[in-house]
Amino acid sequence: MRIALVGCGFVADYYKKTMSLHPELELVGVMDRNPERSANFSAYHSIPAYQSLEELLEDKKVETVINLTNPSSHYEVSKAALEAGKHVYSEKPLAMEFSQAKDLVSLAESKNLHLSTAPCSLLNETAQTLWKALREEVVGQVRLVYGEMDDGLVHRFAYKKWLSESGIPWPYQDEFEVGCTIEHAGYILTWLAAFFGPAETVTAFSSCLIPDKETDVPLDNNAPDFSVACIKYQSGVVARLTCSIVAPHDHAIKIFGDDGVLYTKECWKDRSPVYIRKRFTIRRKTLLSPIPKTYPLVGKNNPHIKSKGGQQLNFCRGIADLAEAIAQNRSPRLSAQYCLHICELVLAIHNALEAGSAYKLSTTFDPIEPMDYAR
Ligand SMILES: NC(=O)c1ccc[n+]([C@@H]2O[C@H](COP(=O)([O-])OP(=O)(O)OC[C@H]3O[C@@H](n4cnc5c(N)ncnc54)[C@H](O)[C@@H]3O)[C@@H](O)[C@H]2O)c1
Repeated sequence: MRIALVGCGFVADYYKKTMSLHPELELVGVMDRNPERSANFSAYHSIPAYQSLEELLEDKKVETVINLTNPSSHYEVSKAALEAGKHVYSEKPLAMEFSQAKDLVSLAESKNLHLSTAPCSLLNETAQTLWKALREEVVGQVRLVYGEMDDGLVHRFAYKKWLSESGIPWPYQDEFEVGCTIEHAGYILTWLAAFFGPAETVTAFSSCLIPDKETDVPLDNNAPDFSVACIKYQSGVVARLTCSIVAPHDHAIKIFGDDGVLYTKECWKDRSPVYIRKRFTIRRKTLLSPIPKTYPLVGKNNPHIKSKGGQQLNFCRGIADLAEAIAQNRSPRLSAQYCLHICELVLAIHNALEAGSAYKLSTTFDPIEPMDYAR
């Protein structure tokens, strides 16, 4: 599949790095509204740069546009690409407003085009392993899930030293203004939706605990830097998700069933180990096994890049699945309806603020197939 990137910022290098794992993806060109950014990416990676979005969209070679712009530009760029007849894979969120996200999905459907969004970590080894263990009912009937997306006091980190491979600084102003729920909740919610089906309701609380973030630029909103949500899935499972850039790093998912706990300590790595602690009874006491058992990771032989740095995820799996879906005339695993459902859920949590009333989800999606390597 011939693809073009729009947005040559911090994350674009992450995509370029893992593209080599998917030889079926051919990057034909890049574009950024900041010409210095596209020139930098083009020179560093030896990829042609388009001078404008119009030029990129007029190029018949381009089948799919990869939208790596800032969240506030997602809607306009994805819309233009769909109107030009291109499939779209966008970074999250689908759009900053739910009405815009619905608009994009209707547009894609009316034109018979695919529309998918990041994160694609559901397709990785850890998520597929957890899912396989759940299908095998290794911890019995699941009742409750705790998901943590805490990243520490990011505004006190040395983030000005964070540079991408081609030298682009981490966009702290945008990250703080968009907020950690929109940026990160999807990493857990995409997994839970695949495992437990569509959500029915969400009751959330979100708040901005540190409005100024001590930055050298004034932040122009008070995006929540903390949120907590209780989600009831149609299947009956309940999940509690916490996101913050205040509490210390914790990216664990714990799935509680009648017979034990299934968990991973890090859902931001493609190959994070999966463990089970079984429940057992000795005499009058019921306990959880003190020694966790490792559940074998599926897809151990999948190609992967070795990285000790920030990049522990293959950002191109979702695009590769989209390419395969087109070739096989099927829907991508990260279908437009599924991505819309995740977007609705994430925005409901982010926008809950301190009023905290229950929100009834209006979207749903068809069940998703596990990856072939995990069947
Ligand atoms: N920073 C991270 O670590 C990270 C990780 C995963 C995902 N993401 C996601 O990736 C996306 C991009 O993040 P980033 O960190 O690369 O941001 P960034 O600010 O470094 O880069 C975004 C680029 O998009 C360009 N852009 C914005 N609007 C545009 C438009 N209308 N047309 C063309 N170019 C446009 C900007 O000029 C900029 O160069 C966001 O959705 C973010 O949530 C970021």
